[in-house]
Amino acid sequence: MSFNDQNLPFAENHLEPAISEKTVEFHFGKHQKGYADKLIALTNGTPFANMDLVSIIKETVDNPAQTAIFNNAAQLWNHILYWDSVHAYREENPIPAGAFADAVKATFGNEDNLKAELLDAAVNLFGSGWVWLAADNKTKELKIIKTQNAANPITMDMEPLLTIDVWEHAYYLDYQNRRPDYAQTLIDKLANWHFAASNFTAA
Ligand SMILES: [Fe+2]
Repeated sequence: MSFNDQNLPFAENHLEPAISEKTVEFHFGKHQKGYADKLIALTNGTPFANMDLVSIIKETVDNPAQTAIFNNAAQLWNHILYWDSVHAYREENPIPAGAFADAVKATFGNEDNLKAELLDAAVNLFGSGWVWLAADNKTKELKIIKTQNAANPITMDMEPLLTIDVWEHAYYLDYQNRRPDYAQTLIDKLANWHFAASNFTAA
C-alpha cells in the first residue's frame, strides 16, 4: 500500500463558511501529506512499509525507538478519521435517532451535554492534540477522550467514533487563536453524527 494515496472525501471548499478552502487546502495538502511523506521515508525498506496504519500504530506505540514512525502513522490515521467526522455546514445538525442516540442519552443525559463536554475537552486540551468521542470495545460505553500530539484511542482498547483536530493548523487561518469558536462551530454545524452512529453500530 502507499501511505500517500488518501483523498479528501469532499472538495476543499466543502466546509465553508465554517472552515475555509484555504485551511482545508493547507491542512490536507501540506500537513497531512507531510505526515504521509515522512512515514514513507521512515518505513522504506522496513516491514512497516507493507503494514496498514492501525497495525503500525499498535506495534510502535510506547516504543521510544519508534516514536517518529508512531507519530507520523497516527497523525495520518487521525486525519483520515477527521475528514470523515465532518460534513458540510448545517444550521440544524441533530444526532439521528437510533442506538447511538440512545447511548448518548444513557451516558450524557442528552445531546446538549455531550456537545458541551466535547467543547470543554477541546478548549481545555493543553497544547496540540485531538478530542475523541469513543466507545469502549468491551462495554460499548461512550467516553470523551483528550489526547496530546498524535496519540489516539485505538491503542487504549477504544473504538473512535468521531474526532476533532485541535492542532492550531486546523483553525488558525480562519479563527487565529480562537480555538473555542472553531470547536463550537465544528461541534454544532459540521460534526457528522451519522458517521459516529455507524461507527458505534460497527464497534
Ligand atoms: Fe491536523
